[in-house]
Amino acid sequence: MYDHMAVRTTKSGQKAPRHKSRRVSYVEIAAAIALTCIALAAAIGDTIASAPGLTQERQRQLTEFVRQDCGSCHGMTLKGGLGRPLSADMFEGRGADIIAEIILDGIPGTAMPPWRALLTEAEADWIAEALKRGDIR
Ligand code: HEC
Repeated sequence: MYDHMAVRTTKSGQKAPRHKSRRVSYVEIAAAIALTCIALAAAIGDTIASAPGLTQERQRQLTEFVRQDCGSCHGMTLKGGLGRPLSADMFEGRGADIIAEIILDGIPGTAMPPWRALLTEAEADWIAEALKRGDIR
């Protein structure tokens, strides 16, 4: 009739309702897993995306945190106390990544505690770099 272009005709989608089983199907499980992965990826993506630039507000908070919490052992002006000074000259020749590792994991067998529960890696990196630059005093 009107199908002079019959070569290109396709069958329109036949709906095949499948509600025989009440049990959770593999498709649903797979969909749930996929959604979880997407959510996780998004969360990780956010973390990575925010890594290079912490907000001004967060940087201010971290500076205060280092002065207060780290200062309780390293001296209120970070010039040393129970812990060694955290002044820039102490860190010459050592990479910020090593300092960040110490901050995250602490120094086992000493009073230097791990801060991993309180700080993200990006934040520890930021603190390490700020200390190396001598920006936090
Ligand atoms: C409970 C006390 C305490 C607190 C709080 C503390 N530290 Fe320490 N920290 C120490 C001690 C003690 C040492 C020295 C350990 C040793 O003998 O090697 C140390 C060592 C370090 C070192 C290595 C210094 C070096 O020259 O190798 C860094 C870096 C450091 N602390 C950073 C921090 C930062 C940043 C904070 C806050 C997030 C912090 N510490 C909070 C006690 C503390």
